Amino acid sequence: MNFIDKNIEQYAAMHSDAESDLLKSLNRHTYARVLQPRMLSGHLQGRILAMLSRMIQPKAILEIGTYTGYSALCLAEGLQTDGVLHSIDINPELHETALQFVQQSPYHNQIHLHVGDALHIIPAFEIQFDLVFIDADKENYCTYLDLAINCVHSGGYIIADNVLWSGNVVKPENEQDRNTAPVIAFNKKVLADVRLRKVLLPVRDGLMICQKI
Ligand SMILES: C[S@@+](CC[C@H](N)C(=O)[O-])C[C@H]1O[C@@H](n2cnc3c(N)ncnc32)[C@H](O)[C@@H]1O
Repeated sequence: MNFIDKNIEQYAAMHSDAESDLLKSLNRHTYARVLQPRMLSGHLQGRILAMLSRMIQPKAILEIGTYTGYSALCLAEGLQTDGVLHSIDINPELHETALQFVQQSPYHNQIHLHVGDALHIIPAFEIQFDLVFIDADKENYCTYLDLAINCVHSGGYIIADNVLWSGNVVKPENEQDRNTAPVIAFNKKVLADVRLRKVLLPVRDGLMICQKI
């Protein structure tokens, strides 16, 4: 579902920085060869993530849900020169593609790809992050929020994708799919958490931006 008129979204993308050749090629590769290519952030959201990361200038980023590495490459643009990005994906079949594109990027020494369940990997990190991007299985969004709050600095940011879930969050219960309830629960949990400043941007499938106070 497009929340923004298609022509307006196209106009916004045309008046934003272009995708780099590497991101264009990853976008094409994902659509040609990988299942569920709509999961990739894409041009406009990618530029938004890159701009937010450049504003935050993080030393450490955690990404939950690498997929083919598109958003990791966008977020890495804002890293400090000695900064690191850890990205986790449970699907080992995606690893080779993500690695192949990360290795061609200027951030190949800064991006660390982990294969496995984020629920097990995150608690083992002994790092405080400046930015956490939640973009994995919706049923665990509330748990990812708890984990993110624990491992993000005060003043740090948590961004979550797909919080409008194709508009299902405002549909009557009998028209919602199985992932709608966990997304609604996540949005309610964010709203109720007094430790967080929050704004929900209706961009693409909905981006929740939080700052830990
Ligand atoms: C929407 S895609 C991520 C898209 C990517 N961030 C981008 O914008 O290009 C969600 C990813 O989360 C991964 N995932 C699902 N459950 C997971 C889990 N428990 N731990 C880690 N990754 C998981 C899936 O394998 C999938 O690749």
